[in-house]
Amino acid sequence: MKKIAFLGLLLFVGAYAAGSSFAATDCISCHKESNPGLYLQWKNSKHGQSEIGCLDCHGADAADVDAFEHNGATIATLVTPKDCGKCHPKIEQETSASYHAHAGEILESNDAYLAHAAGGEPVAIVGCASCHGGKVVIDPDAPNKLSPKTWPNSGIGRINPDGSKGACNACHARHSFSAAQARQPENCGKCHLGPDHPQKEIYEESKHGIAYFNNKEKMALNSDDWVVGKDYYEAPTCATCHMSATADMPITHDVGQRISWTLRPPVSKNKDNWEKKRQNMQNVCLNCHQQRFVDGHYFQYDAQVKLYNEKFAKPAGEIIKLVKEEKLLENVAAFSNPIEWEYWELWHHEGRRARMGAAMMAPDYAWWHGIYDVAHNFYFKLIPEARKYNNAKVNAYIDNLLKNDPMHTWLSTNTGEIKKAIKTGDFQQIYSKLFAQ
Ligand code: HEC
Ligand code: HEC
Ligand code: HEC
Ligand code: HEC
Ligand code: HEC
Ligand code: HEC
Ligand code: HEC
Ligand code: HEC
Repeated sequence: MKKIAFLGLLLFVGAYAAGSSFAATDCISCHKESNPGLYLQWKNSKHGQSEIGCLDCHGADAADVDAFEHNGATIATLVTPKDCGKCHPKIEQETSASYHAHAGEILESNDAYLAHAAGGEPVAIVGCASCHGGKVVIDPDAPNKLSPKTWPNSGIGRINPDGSKGACNACHARHSFSAAQARQPENCGKCHLGPDHPQKEIYEESKHGIAYFNNKEKMALNSDDWVVGKDYYEAPTCATCHMSATADMPITHDVGQRISWTLRPPVSKNKDNWEKKRQNMQNVCLNCHQQRFVDGHYFQYDAQVKLYNEKFAKPAGEIIKLVKEEKLLENVAAFSNPIEWEYWELWHHEGRRARMGAAMMAPDYAWWHGIYDVAHNFYFKLIPEARKYNNAKVNAYIDNLLKNDPMHTWLSTNTGEIKKAIKTGDFQQIYSKLFAQ
């Protein structure tokens, strides 16, 4: 901490030495009057108290594409990770190396196609880009000012004119730039919610969320250091598990460092180096739980991911592949057929919910908003749509699956027999391979 303050002070003094005619007070003289809220947020922040002034962040080089002359100083309105990185270099590197920094590169995705084709351009700006980050460009009609089509924007992977990616104020709201705010689940919940990635809702219904909301005032959110098991102990937040420090593991701004599966794609895969990443996460859990309890959680979570993968995701993907290979969708735009929407929702909505609910201890998302919806979609929407094509290959695949895959033969078995087998445990044997480690 002392080191950062020292570096900040050096830069600050440096601005004077370089002959700048500006002191922080010169910006404040006007902006204190015109934007008192903005001024007070800055004044009472760690930056305001450490004499990090307006120009330390907004000061720009005349050669920057977004620089402009403003009352005798050269400034830019955007303050990018590169600018913050002058004083917080390690954090800037971690942020830029994270998956978050790539979130603006979504234009080639099916999500983007859907937003543009079935929706329309405004929703891509106020929807997608406000979470993911858009490309910020200069207004062609107002030299050096930012185009209103692209800014305001504080998306997590914003593509900035200086080539950097991201926006630190996606989590540290200006001009308070507080760590305490970023530690709270609501902060991540701006983006991590809704039908396709309901982490906020999952957290709220988990025992962890319940413990957090019950003990918020004991969470030491304003403390300088925030080490689990030392500064607080009642509950973990999103930041605790994905970013914050433990007694023997430092804070990371690379949110992928503690995750072993990727739960986003149609079929989940283990990430590179996943054992190490899982160990990092367990380092957090072990502050409050014993190893056997934690292993048990991962045993159940792995089985749920495999259940989704093997029973539903792979067969659904195979059906769609056959439908495409047989050219049953030929000459029509993608997403103009109901079956494409059913498949999309199967993996992109309910399939993600089922996996994420199990990852973060939310039973309602694991089953009712999860596998229940997946099964309903698979048996009573996707398969009936595929049957409508009356194609021999597609029908043969489905017939074989439903008649010969023991996970699906229940459909043609007598209810009484199934109930008896569930009672004796014989039925559960079908799933035993999913529990293999
Ligand atoms: C000129 C140097 C400088 C720049 C540029 C700078 N900071 Fe800081 N930052 C500091 C100093 C100094 C502190 C205070 C350290 C302390 O008091 O412990 C700090 C503290 C922080 C904190 C911790 C606040 C808390 O509640 O504990 C955050 C978060 C932060 N900065 C984010 C940012 C972001 C985001 C940017 C860019 C928009 C940025 N900083 C730009 C120097 C700088
Ligand atoms: C003489 C009063 C005055 C001074 C001094 C002043 N500003 Fe401003 N500033 C304004 C006014 C008025 C606006 C809104 C109109 C405009 O954009 O010029 C503004 C706008 C801005 C904007 C938003 C620009 C945009 O893209 O719309 C930023 C950022 C800013 N000021 C930062 C600063 C900084 C940093 C300093 C100190 C170097 C500073 N101001 C000094 C009056 C002032
Ligand atoms: C720690 C860095 C930092 C400091 C210090 C700082 N700003 Fe900012 N400011 C930002 C960031 C980040 C944004 C958001 C711009 C963006 O989207 O990247 C911003 C945005 C702005 C805006 C335009 C957005 C709006 O809400 O209208 C104005 C005006 C502004 N700052 C003025 C000031 C003034 C005046 C000061 C000094 C009192 C100041 N800033 C100090 C980082 C800083
Ligand atoms: C409410 C904020 C929000 C909105 C709006 C939003 N997304 Fe996302 N998106 C996310 C989050 C958060 C994730 C990551 C979820 C996870 O990892 O669990 C994500 C994931 C994705 C992915 C998957 C990335 C990968 O590598 O697997 C794509 C592609 C995507 N979004 C594109 C879009 C597009 C295009 C739109 C607009 C049609 C959009 N998103 C709207 C927040 C949002
Ligand atoms: C995904 C949300 C998120 C983003 C984006 C983010 N931060 Fe943070 N940041 C956090 C959280 C959460 C903490 C609190 C960690 C803790 O103390 O447990 C934090 C803490 C900090 C601190 C205090 C660190 C310390 O050692 O006490 C600084 C400084 C900081 N961030 C700067 C930045 C800068 C600079 C950027 C952009 C390059 C940035 N952050 C982007 C979430 C974020
Ligand atoms: C402004 C929106 C936004 C905020 C705020 C945000 N995220 Fe994200 N997050 C995303 C998006 C979008 C993605 C998916 C990235 C992509 O599509 O490339 C993502 C991905 C992730 C991932 C997956 C990383 C990986 O490597 O697979 C994790 C974990 C994550 N976020 C955790 C957090 C946490 C914890 C916070 C709060 C401290 C947070 N996020 C705040 C938008 C956000
Ligand atoms: C008790 C710790 C804990 C808490 C609290 C927690 N998570 Fe997670 N999170 C996990 C675990 C464990 C996984 C699965 C990791 C793995 O695959 O190994 C995960 C996975 C994720 C993923 C990855 C999904 C993907 O697409 O691959 C995202 C994004 C995420 N969490 C965001 C959040 C957000 C946002 C919050 C708060 C609202 C939160 N988490 C709260 C432990 C936690
Ligand atoms: C700061 C302490 C803390 C951390 C860190 C923590 N937990 Fe918990 N966990 C709790 C508390 C408190 C409960 C609620 C206990 C109760 O209600 O009996 C809980 C409950 C649970 C439950 C039981 C859920 C249920 O509905 O019965 C599981 C499973 C769990 N945690 C797994 C984990 C895993 C896995 C991690 C790491 C990814 C983790 N926890 C991290 C404090 C923590």
